[in-house]
This record gives sequence, C-alpha cells and structure tokens, in this order.
Amino acid sequence: MEFVLYEQRGAVGIITINREKALNALNSAVLDELDKTLDNVNQEEVRCLILTGAGQKSFVAGADIGEMSSLTKKEGEAFGKKGNDVFRKLETFPIPVIAAINGFALGGGCEISMSCDIRICSENAVFGQPEVGLGITPGFGGTQRLARIVGVGKAKEMIYGARNIKADEAYRIGLVNNVYPIEELMPAAEKLAGTIAKNAPIAVRNSKKAINEGLDVGMDEAIVIEEKLFGDCFESYDQKEGMTAFIEKRKVEAFLNK
Ligand code: CAA
Repeated sequence: MEFVLYEQRGAVGIITINREKALNALNSAVLDELDKTLDNVNQEEVRCLILTGAGQKSFVAGADIGEMSSLTKKEGEAFGKKGNDVFRKLETFPIPVIAAINGFALGGGCEISMSCDIRICSENAVFGQPEVGLGITPGFGGTQRLARIVGVGKAKEMIYGARNIKADEAYRIGLVNNVYPIEELMPAAEKLAGTIAKNAPIAVRNSKKAINEGLDVGMDEAIVIEEKLFGDCFESYDQKEGMTAFIEKRKVEAFLNK
C-alpha cells in the first residue's frame, strides 16, 4: 500500500498513516487503504492495534483540503460518509486500538484519534477541530465524539472557536490519557499494547463491546448488554485457566483466545 503501512510485532499490530509530505492528511486513497488494512488484520494473532502517523511532526493534519475544495453538497456528504464508515469500523473493531498521536491531530486527525479506544500523545501534539475556519463543520464524527469525550461545553468552545489546544490541555480535559516526550511515545504505546495483549482476548473484546454499546443506550439496557457479554466469557478455556490459576495460586500459563 502507498499511504498506510502495517506491521505485526507479536500480538501487536502497528498501523502507520504514511503521507508525511502532506502531514498525513486523509484523502480518499488513504481512507480506502486504511479500510483494507483493517480488513486484513489477523484477528487470531493480533490482540491490540496501535495507530500512528509517519514522521515526528504530524499524526494526521485532517481530511485533505485540496480534495475537499471543489466538492458539491452531494459529494461532500459522500466524503463524510466515507470517513465515518472507516472510523466507525475502527471504533467497533473487535480488538482495542491505541492512538499514538505524534504531532498535529487536527480535524479528521483529532476525529480518527477519537475513534480509537485510548489516546496517548507526544509533547508536541496539537489537537483541534479547525473546520469552521474553512467554512465547514467537522465531518468525520467530531461533532459527536468530541462532546462525548470532553463534555458538551468544552467541545462547543473548541469547535465554534476553531481553537486548537496543546498536549497539556488535551491531558487536562481528558482527551488523552498521557503525554510523553516524542521519543518515548511509541515505546509507551507498545508497552500499553503489550499489557492489553497479555490479558484474556475474549474478555478484552467483550469489555470493549460492553463499554461501547452500553454508552449508546440507557442504563437498564446497558447492564443487560454487560450481563450477556460477561456470561459469554464462561466455559471458555481462558476463563477456566484464569480462575484455576488464581485458585491454585500460580500464574496463568497462557490465554489461548478460546
Ligand atoms: N490537507 C491537505 N494538505 C495538507 C493538510 C490538509 N489537511 N495539512 C497540511 N497539508 C499540506 C500542506 O498543504 C503542505 O503541502 P505543500 O508542502 O505541498 O504546500 C504540507 O502539508 C505541509 O504543511 P504546511 O506547510 O502548512 O506546514 P506548517 O508546519 O506550516 O503547518 C499545520 C502545519 C498547522 C498543520 C497546517 O498544515 C494546517 O493548518 N493544516 C490544515 C489543518 C486543518 O485545517 N485540518 C482540518 C481539515 S478539514 C477536516 O478535517 C474536515 C473533517 O472533519 C472531515
């Protein structure tokens, strides 16, 4: 692929948006390649994904402004759908995804990071939804996910004002879980991914599904979603091994994803 690199390191898959000359901006080709990359992840072997951008300056500087500049209303809507479909695939991907945000995360860049399960960033990261300054709304989920993550008031302030924020503010408002010097970002992402990958895969996947699906419904329905996914873990090899290891006061030998 030209714009998306994929590397599997043991149980961790690393996806890199690789369009450094345009600060990893998302054009249609990048979105198509990202979609294909997700389809090709070996879900038997990989237990956590990391998403990052090529270089040390930008994670993703947004949707491609050149490509968008001449779109009609209909084409604009279709481009929004294209991004939304890929980002939703990422958000609902069975395996957790960590965004390792290595610089600018603007517009579609902030939006793609918000479709990931966990966000960590480098000290030079800048977040924002600058779209209203370009005459458009955020179009790859920003109006929805930013408000859910940082709260309605803060999201409206950032979106209406097209106000970018630096890593320390992103940390303070809960947009990222941690901030690292740039050279420590990928090692930290890999360490976190490794920790997740060591745990029982079915339980991790079911936890992701329970959290995501539960947030979209009322509490009465949400706890039923949890009950079903909790129940689904029982009778699995990994549940038996995890609990037997505890009872026998020994370490888990291995979780086998079954
Ligand atoms: N689309 C297309 N090209 C982009 C881009 C984008 N979003 N962001 C950067 N680039 C390109 C620049 O055009 C430039 O290309 P050339 O060298 O061919 O001129 C190259 O990347 C380097 O960028 P700059 O020279 O501008 O680098 P800088 O360090 O001076 O500035 C920046 C960096 C502040 C991130 C600036 O590039 C910028 O403001 N980019 C646009 C950010 C933005 O507005 N993103 C939101 C897009 S709209 C969107 O995402 C809609 C949506 O919700 C779906």
